[in-house]
Amino acid sequence: MTSDHSARVAVLVSGRGSNFEALHHALQSTPDIPAHIVGLISDQPQALALEKARHLGVPAEIIDATAHESKAAFEHALIGALSALAPDWIVLAGFMRVLTADAIEPFAGRMINIHPSLLPKHRGLHTHQKVLAAGERQHGASIHFVTAELDGGPVLSQVRMAVDQSDDATSLAQRLLPLEHHLMRATVALLATDDVKCANGKITINGHELLQPLQLGHGLDDRGQWLDQPSGR
Ligand code: GRF
Repeated sequence: MTSDHSARVAVLVSGRGSNFEALHHALQSTPDIPAHIVGLISDQPQALALEKARHLGVPAEIIDATAHESKAAFEHALIGALSALAPDWIVLAGFMRVLTADAIEPFAGRMINIHPSLLPKHRGLHTHQKVLAAGERQHGASIHFVTAELDGGPVLSQVRMAVDQSDDATSLAQRLLPLEHHLMRATVALLATDDVKCANGKITINGHELLQPLQLGHGLDDRGQWLDQPSGR
Protein backbone atom coordinates (compact mmCIF):
# COMPACT_ATOMS: atom_id res chain seq x y z
CA MET A 1 0.00 0.00 0.00
CA THR A 2 1.56 3.32 -0.98
CA SER A 3 1.42 6.25 1.40
CA ASP A 4 -0.75 8.41 -0.90
CA HIS A 5 -3.50 5.77 -0.84
CA SER A 6 -5.92 5.27 2.03
CA ALA A 7 -6.70 1.54 2.18
CA ARG A 8 -10.38 0.70 1.80
CA VAL A 9 -11.47 -1.69 4.56
CA ALA A 10 -14.76 -3.62 4.54
CA VAL A 11 -15.88 -5.36 7.74
CA LEU A 12 -18.01 -8.52 8.00
CA VAL A 13 -19.83 -9.13 11.28
CA SER A 14 -22.55 -11.24 12.87
CA GLY A 15 -22.94 -9.72 16.32
CA ARG A 16 -21.75 -7.18 18.85
CA GLY A 17 -19.20 -5.36 16.68
CA SER A 18 -16.74 -4.23 19.35
CA ASN A 19 -13.75 -4.99 17.10
CA PHE A 20 -15.38 -2.99 14.31
CA GLU A 21 -16.02 -0.10 16.69
CA ALA A 22 -12.47 -0.16 18.05
CA LEU A 23 -11.03 -0.24 14.53
CA HIS A 24 -13.24 2.61 13.39
CA HIS A 25 -12.22 4.69 16.39
CA ALA A 26 -8.53 3.99 15.79
CA LEU A 27 -8.68 4.91 12.11
CA GLN A 28 -10.62 8.10 12.86
CA SER A 29 -8.34 9.20 15.68
CA THR A 30 -5.02 8.18 14.08
CA PRO A 31 -4.69 9.93 10.73
CA ASP A 32 -1.20 8.40 10.40
CA ILE A 33 -2.86 5.07 9.56
CA PRO A 34 -3.74 5.32 5.85
CA ALA A 35 -6.95 3.29 5.99
CA HIS A 36 -10.67 3.88 6.37
CA ILE A 37 -13.74 1.68 6.72
CA VAL A 38 -15.89 1.81 3.58
CA GLY A 39 -18.71 -0.39 4.80
CA LEU A 40 -19.98 -3.05 7.16
CA ILE A 41 -21.95 -6.12 6.16
CA SER A 42 -23.82 -8.32 8.61
CA ASP A 43 -25.37 -11.72 7.95
CA GLN A 44 -27.57 -11.17 11.02
CA PRO A 45 -30.40 -8.61 10.76
CA GLN A 46 -30.38 -8.13 14.54
CA ALA A 47 -26.63 -7.62 14.96
CA LEU A 48 -25.75 -4.86 17.40
CA ALA A 49 -22.89 -3.95 15.04
CA LEU A 50 -25.44 -2.59 12.56
CA GLU A 51 -26.63 0.00 15.07
CA LYS A 52 -23.05 0.91 15.86
CA ALA A 53 -22.29 1.39 12.16
CA ARG A 54 -25.31 3.60 11.64
CA HIS A 55 -24.39 5.65 14.69
CA LEU A 56 -20.84 6.08 13.37
CA GLY A 57 -22.01 6.94 9.85
CA VAL A 58 -20.52 3.81 8.28
CA PRO A 59 -22.59 2.39 5.41
CA ALA A 60 -24.14 -0.85 6.66
CA GLU A 61 -25.87 -3.64 4.80
CA ILE A 62 -27.60 -6.86 5.79
CA ILE A 63 -27.06 -9.98 3.71
CA ASP A 64 -29.31 -12.41 5.53
CA ALA A 65 -28.35 -16.02 4.85
CA THR A 66 -31.81 -17.26 5.85
CA ALA A 67 -33.41 -15.04 3.20
CA HIS A 68 -31.52 -16.85 0.44
CA GLU A 69 -32.53 -20.20 -0.97
CA SER A 70 -29.07 -21.72 -0.77
CA LYS A 71 -25.60 -21.10 0.58
CA ALA A 72 -24.47 -20.42 -2.99
CA ALA A 73 -27.14 -17.74 -3.41
CA PHE A 74 -26.17 -16.14 -0.09
CA GLU A 75 -22.50 -16.11 -1.03
CA HIS A 76 -23.32 -14.70 -4.47
CA ALA A 77 -25.10 -11.78 -2.78
CA LEU A 78 -22.24 -11.36 -0.34
CA ILE A 79 -19.64 -11.29 -3.12
CA GLY A 80 -21.73 -8.68 -4.94
CA ALA A 81 -22.05 -6.45 -1.87
CA LEU A 82 -18.38 -6.77 -1.04
CA SER A 83 -17.27 -6.10 -4.61
CA ALA A 84 -19.41 -2.95 -4.68
CA LEU A 85 -17.35 -1.62 -1.76
CA ALA A 86 -14.12 -2.13 -3.78
CA PRO A 87 -12.18 -3.06 -0.66
CA ASP A 88 -8.42 -3.41 -0.44
CA TRP A 89 -8.94 -5.47 2.72
CA ILE A 90 -11.86 -7.41 4.15
CA VAL A 91 -11.88 -7.90 7.91
CA LEU A 92 -14.00 -10.67 9.43
CA ALA A 93 -14.66 -9.49 12.98
CA GLY A 94 -17.02 -11.89 14.70
CA PHE A 95 -18.45 -13.17 11.40
CA MET A 96 -19.92 -16.53 12.32
CA ARG A 97 -20.11 -18.25 8.95
CA VAL A 98 -17.61 -20.46 7.19
CA LEU A 99 -17.24 -19.26 3.62
CA THR A 100 -16.62 -21.65 0.75
CA ALA A 101 -13.56 -21.43 -1.48
CA ASP A 102 -15.79 -19.94 -4.20
CA ALA A 103 -16.69 -16.98 -1.98
CA ILE A 104 -13.11 -16.43 -0.82
CA GLU A 105 -11.46 -16.74 -4.23
CA PRO A 106 -12.37 -13.24 -5.56
CA PHE A 107 -10.77 -11.76 -2.43
CA ALA A 108 -7.97 -14.29 -1.86
CA GLY A 109 -5.07 -12.79 0.07
CA ARG A 110 -7.16 -9.77 1.07
CA MET A 111 -9.45 -11.35 3.68
CA ILE A 112 -8.45 -11.62 7.35
CA ASN A 113 -10.26 -12.98 10.42
CA ILE A 114 -9.75 -12.37 14.12
CA HIS A 115 -10.00 -15.46 16.31
CA PRO A 116 -9.81 -15.63 20.11
CA SER A 117 -7.05 -18.22 20.51
CA LEU A 118 -3.38 -18.69 19.83
CA LEU A 119 -3.82 -20.49 16.52
CA PRO A 120 -3.22 -23.22 15.51
CA LYS A 121 -4.55 -24.09 18.96
CA HIS A 122 -8.31 -24.12 19.51
CA ARG A 123 -10.07 -23.50 16.23
CA GLY A 124 -13.82 -23.01 16.25
CA LEU A 125 -16.03 -22.02 19.16
CA HIS A 126 -15.58 -22.01 22.97
CA THR A 127 -11.88 -21.18 22.85
CA HIS A 128 -11.76 -19.86 26.44
CA GLN A 129 -13.22 -23.08 27.83
CA LYS A 130 -10.79 -25.10 25.70
CA VAL A 131 -7.79 -23.20 27.08
CA LEU A 132 -8.96 -23.86 30.66
CA ALA A 133 -9.73 -27.52 29.97
CA ALA A 134 -6.24 -27.98 28.53
CA GLY A 135 -4.71 -26.36 31.63
CA GLU A 136 -2.80 -23.87 29.52
CA ARG A 137 -0.96 -20.94 31.07
CA GLN A 138 -1.18 -18.72 28.01
CA HIS A 139 -4.08 -17.50 25.96
CA GLY A 140 -4.43 -14.93 23.23
CA ALA A 141 -5.90 -13.92 19.92
CA SER A 142 -4.79 -14.35 16.32
CA ILE A 143 -5.44 -12.70 12.99
CA HIS A 144 -5.15 -15.05 10.06
CA PHE A 145 -5.80 -14.98 6.34
CA VAL A 146 -9.11 -16.60 5.48
CA THR A 147 -9.20 -19.91 3.65
CA ALA A 148 -12.03 -22.40 3.29
CA GLU A 149 -10.67 -24.26 6.33
CA LEU A 150 -12.25 -22.99 9.57
CA ASP A 151 -9.69 -20.79 11.38
CA GLY A 152 -7.05 -22.62 9.35
CA GLY A 153 -5.41 -19.98 7.13
CA PRO A 154 -1.87 -18.62 7.58
CA VAL A 155 -1.54 -16.65 10.83
CA LEU A 156 -0.31 -13.08 10.44
CA SER A 157 -0.34 -11.68 13.98
CA GLN A 158 -1.06 -12.54 17.59
CA VAL A 159 -1.36 -11.04 21.04
CA ARG A 160 -0.80 -13.08 24.21
CA MET A 161 -1.77 -12.96 27.86
CA ALA A 162 -1.18 -15.16 30.89
CA VAL A 163 -4.00 -17.30 32.30
CA ASP A 164 -4.53 -16.73 36.04
CA GLN A 165 -5.39 -19.47 38.56
CA SER A 166 -8.64 -17.63 39.22
CA ASP A 167 -9.70 -17.27 35.58
CA ASP A 168 -12.90 -18.73 34.25
CA ALA A 169 -14.16 -18.55 30.66
CA THR A 170 -15.95 -15.27 31.32
CA SER A 171 -12.93 -13.51 32.81
CA LEU A 172 -10.69 -14.79 30.01
CA ALA A 173 -13.10 -13.42 27.40
CA GLN A 174 -13.34 -10.09 29.22
CA ARG A 175 -9.60 -9.70 29.61
CA LEU A 176 -8.87 -10.79 26.05
CA LEU A 177 -11.30 -8.45 24.30
CA PRO A 178 -9.29 -5.20 24.70
CA LEU A 179 -6.23 -7.10 23.52
CA GLU A 180 -8.17 -8.21 20.43
CA HIS A 181 -8.96 -4.57 19.76
CA HIS A 182 -5.28 -3.71 20.09
CA LEU A 183 -4.36 -6.56 17.72
CA MET A 184 -6.98 -5.44 15.21
CA ARG A 185 -5.74 -1.84 15.15
CA ALA A 186 -2.08 -2.81 14.93
CA THR A 187 -2.69 -5.38 12.19
CA VAL A 188 -4.80 -3.10 10.00
CA ALA A 189 -2.14 -0.38 10.44
CA LEU A 190 0.43 -2.88 9.20
CA LEU A 191 -1.71 -3.87 6.21
CA ALA A 192 -2.23 -0.22 5.33
CA THR A 193 1.43 0.78 5.49
CA ASP A 194 3.43 -2.30 4.49
CA ASP A 195 3.38 -4.63 1.53
CA VAL A 196 1.70 -7.70 3.05
CA LYS A 197 0.87 -10.58 0.75
CA CYS A 198 -0.50 -14.06 1.28
CA ALA A 199 -0.29 -16.63 -1.50
CA ASN A 200 0.16 -20.40 -1.63
CA GLY A 201 -0.08 -20.65 2.15
CA LYS A 202 2.78 -18.21 2.72
CA ILE A 203 2.78 -14.66 4.04
CA THR A 204 5.37 -12.13 2.95
CA ILE A 205 5.92 -8.68 4.41
CA ASN A 206 7.86 -6.28 2.20
CA GLY A 207 9.14 -9.28 0.27
CA HIS A 208 10.32 -11.27 3.31
CA GLU A 209 8.59 -14.51 4.24
CA LEU A 210 6.94 -14.45 7.66
CA LEU A 211 8.14 -17.57 9.47
CA GLN A 212 6.26 -16.98 12.76
CA PRO A 213 3.17 -14.87 13.45
CA LEU A 214 4.01 -11.30 14.41
CA GLN A 215 3.62 -10.76 18.16
CA LEU A 216 1.84 -7.42 18.44
CA GLY A 217 1.63 -7.07 22.21
CA HIS A 218 4.20 -4.29 22.54
CA GLY A 219 3.46 -2.18 25.59
CA LEU A 220 1.54 -4.95 27.34
CA ASP A 221 2.67 -7.05 30.28
CA ASP A 222 2.08 -10.81 30.46
CA ARG A 223 -1.42 -10.30 31.87
CA GLY A 224 -2.33 -8.05 28.98
CA GLN A 225 -2.19 -4.87 31.08
CA TRP A 226 -0.60 -1.74 29.65
CA LEU A 227 2.93 -1.20 30.92
CA ASP A 228 2.45 2.57 30.62
CA GLN A 229 -0.54 4.85 30.21
CA PRO A 230 -2.14 4.13 26.84
CA SER A 231 -2.43 7.17 24.60
CA GLY A 232 -4.60 6.89 21.53
CA ARG A 233 -4.27 3.10 21.35
C1 GRF B 1 -14.32 -11.80 19.07
O1 GRF B 1 -13.98 -12.49 20.24
C2 GRF B 1 -13.59 -12.37 17.89
O2 GRF B 1 -12.32 -12.83 18.20
C3 GRF B 1 -14.47 -13.55 17.52
O3 GRF B 1 -15.78 -13.09 17.73
C4 GRF B 1 -15.77 -12.04 18.71
C5 GRF B 1 -16.39 -10.85 18.07
O4 GRF B 1 -16.60 -9.81 18.99
N1 GRF B 1 -14.21 -13.99 16.17
P1 GRF B 1 -17.14 -8.41 18.50
O5 GRF B 1 -18.40 -8.68 17.67
O6 GRF B 1 -16.07 -7.76 17.68
O7 GRF B 1 -17.45 -7.64 19.73
